[in-house]
Amino acid sequence: LGYLTEEVGYPFNQIPTKAFVSFKGGVESWGSMCGALVAPIAVINLVAEGDIRAAMVNELMAWYKEFPFPEFQPKGLNLPGFAVNSSLCHVSVTTWMKESGFGPRSAPERSERCGGLTGDVCKFTVQMLNKYYDNAFAGGEFKPAAVVGECMACHGEKVPPYAHGKESCVECHGDPHK
Ligand code: HEC
Ligand code: HEC
Repeated sequence: LGYLTEEVGYPFNQIPTKAFVSFKGGVESWGSMCGALVAPIAVINLVAEGDIRAAMVNELMAWYKEFPFPEFQPKGLNLPGFAVNSSLCHVSVTTWMKESGFGPRSAPERSERCGGLTGDVCKFTVQMLNKYYDNAFAGGEFKPAAVVGECMACHGEKVPPYAHGKESCVECHGDPHK
């Protein structure tokens, strides 16, 4: 958001970055939704409306779960990147610490990884918004995991217990029907 405020100005300079401070660590370290997604989603909502607004947010969420963060490495530590298959801060950070061997959460490498990730999320969002401004955003390149459709075919509307969501179900549930 700071970047957009500098580069683009209005309307981004109207949103105080202060509003997003608590999203660090998935909301004050609750490990909920990755905080790097929150400001970019707010920006998408400010510039687009309707189906295309939702499509861009869906694209960002689906891309996030597959992208091997971090690509951007401001301090040049050459950290390894891993896809995390979730938008949750806890899953994202913990998967990365487990795969990379770095940690604990207070480790400078972890902080560098999340900083790089934030840059990657902003870059993807800006590229998407540029396509949108050129009327060239198609969407659908990234999608929820296929298993979501399989599970939701029953648990969405048809069969209790009912569920909702687009996160990869098996990350938490495994396959409960084996
Ligand atoms: C063909 C329909 C169908 C599909 C597909 C399906 N479920 Fe279910 N699910 C059920 C029914 C019916 C129940 C309740 C009875 C039972 O427990 O088997 C259930 C129960 C559950 C429960 C409750 C806990 C449990 O073990 O009983 C969970 C959690 C669950 N499903 C998750 C999933 C996930 C995750 C997927 C995808 C990998 C999935 N379901 C796919 C029909 C389905
Ligand atoms: C971040 C972890 C997580 C993800 C991802 C997730 N769930 Fe759950 N789910 C839970 C938890 C925790 C509960 C509540 C405790 C329980 O019953 O297992 C739950 C409950 C459920 C229940 C009711 C279980 C019961 O015993 O009544 C169903 C059905 C279910 N989830 C289906 C799904 C489906 C379908 C998806 C994919 C769209 C999904 N879940 C994704 C964590 C998750």
